Amino acid sequence: MIRAAITSIAGFVPENILSNHDLEKMIDTTDEWITSRTGIRERHIENDPDKATSDMAVEAVKLLCKKRGISPEEIDLLICGTVTGDLIFPSTSNLICAKIGAKNAWGFDLGAACSGFLYGLSTGSQFIETGKYKKVVVVGADMMSRIVDYTDRTTCVIFGDGAGAVLLEPTEENLGVMDFVLHADGKGATHLHMKAGGSLRPPSHDTIDKKMHYVYQEGQAVFKHAVYNMAEVSARIMEKNHIKAEDVKWLVAHQANKRIIDATSSRMGIGPEKVMMNIERYGNTTSGTIPLLLWDYEKQLRKGDNLILSAFGGGFTWGAIYVKWAYDGSKTGK
Ligand code: UT7
Repeated sequence: MIRAAITSIAGFVPENILSNHDLEKMIDTTDEWITSRTGIRERHIENDPDKATSDMAVEAVKLLCKKRGISPEEIDLLICGTVTGDLIFPSTSNLICAKIGAKNAWGFDLGAACSGFLYGLSTGSQFIETGKYKKVVVVGADMMSRIVDYTDRTTCVIFGDGAGAVLLEPTEENLGVMDFVLHADGKGATHLHMKAGGSLRPPSHDTIDKKMHYVYQEGQAVFKHAVYNMAEVSARIMEKNHIKAEDVKWLVAHQANKRIIDATSSRMGIGPEKVMMNIERYGNTTSGTIPLLLWDYEKQLRKGDNLILSAFGGGFTWGAIYVKWAYDGSKTGK
């Protein structure tokens, strides 16, 4: 059986940092409130108005190819999970391919909010498993600072900008993307969405005056659903694949709130030493969180490690993927 192995990983965050102390000067908040409620200390924010989501993704994909020693022309397909695409159309995937010279690739964007990378990874892996393609790139990238209202103190403190990308290649070893469980429930849209900008409410003076082009989030409702569903789906993929807590090497969980991640690891019965965490430095980069975690921890990953990737987000969308890591990260890690 052919499986899709992750053979390279890279990430990018903009240089400019927005710390909790910076936010204290902008809104009625404190470093203590943000840290204790979310685990976030700082986030990276792009302050160049001419840069967009594709530019962050381009940096990640270029590095990805360099690390693996391949040319962008070898990429067959590039899937980009994002809710902050450069434009309504064309797709950000198209723009990334043009900027990096991936002349032989086609691709598309996948809008599943915080689960965007998981949806993309499971979709991309199918093109490898069927034998159709040899090199598929899955990107998770979001420039959340462009859709966050920096006067809405409950929402603006959690988000940041960032991108990550993985390369999928075929393997006949028992490694790579082993299984996935994905869900969606459009009824959750009411708690987390953007009110205007699409065909329902096209941009107008009225939508701008009413601040309808920003993230609208009912934090507590989202929190409640996230805690239950992310924990439940992570435990379920373990049961389905007969994986016990001691068999899990790493939980790679979407970084929205440290309290949600803690609830998930406790439901899985695993200790904090097995939980990848970088929320304190990047905040919630939506589709970017999971590949950014893999990028940060690459050096510690070993061939055969069992990873449970897990996310919950706008849609609602949620799911978990079981990955068996395919190489010793110490040889290539940053
Ligand atoms: O990634 C996609 C999915 N998104 C998520 O998973 C996010 C899930 N939700 C959350 O992480 C949390 O709900 C938030 C971090 C967004 C908010 O935390 P919370 O503990 O749910 O806060 P809250 O909205 O219940 O507000 C509690 C109190 C309120 O004051 P009162 O009414 O108790 O006096 C708020 O006004 O905290 C106040 N508050 C703040 N205080 C200082 C809200 N935001 C702030 C702030 N600084 N930034």
